[in-house]
Amino acid sequence: MGVDIHSHLIPGIDDGLPDASSSVRIIKELRGLGLEKFICTPHIYDEIHPNTPKTILSALSVLQKELDHEGLSVPVSASAEYMLGSGFRDKLNAGDIIPFPNKYLLIEMPYNTEPMQLEAMIFDIELKGYLPILAHPERYSFYYDHPERYDKLKELGCLFQLNLLSPTGYYSPKAKQISVKLLKSKAYDLIGTDLHHDRHLFRIREFVKSGQAAELLSAYPFKNHDLFL
Ligand SMILES: [Fe+2]
Repeated sequence: MGVDIHSHLIPGIDDGLPDASSSVRIIKELRGLGLEKFICTPHIYDEIHPNTPKTILSALSVLQKELDHEGLSVPVSASAEYMLGSGFRDKLNAGDIIPFPNKYLLIEMPYNTEPMQLEAMIFDIELKGYLPILAHPERYSFYYDHPERYDKLKELGCLFQLNLLSPTGYYSPKAKQISVKLLKSKAYDLIGTDLHHDRHLFRIREFVKSGQAAELLSAYPFKNHDLFL
């Protein structure tokens, strides 16, 4: 994995880690599990987590100060996890976007309904020169009876990002089943922890230390290293 491309480690601005000292403690733990670099992705979701590039970068600098204070030298940077909701297109049109290197953009949807205009939004993203990465496709229940939609999203140019804990059944048995299926068909391009809190860390540690993570995922050609390290 090398680089974690999806996490909520930037403190105090979404439903992730509450303060910089918790973030530093968890980053230390994740480094112990082999992660070398973190591209953090706070939610940008107008109705619930109305972040902007400015709020994200200022919280990142709080985290960076705490890392420096602890003498921890680890590359930590920021992008975001964009909810494809009502305000998204305005941000895109205004160029008010904080992308990954090389203009990759992490996007998510509500878990229960495919957004109206999804395909048009993906088209707009690409028209602006961004490359969409769909976060955790295995978690969208509205696709469970419509697996052909996964093919369509790939066709439209979306990369797929697996949540590390999905194949353990952490989220649900169905998310586990779909993740195993998408792994088998080599539909995923990237993997991320999507870590929000200590419970995630405990489960990730368990998954890694038991050898199950390596058994299930080490042979898979994830592109985290090639694209982002
Ligand atoms: Fe996330």
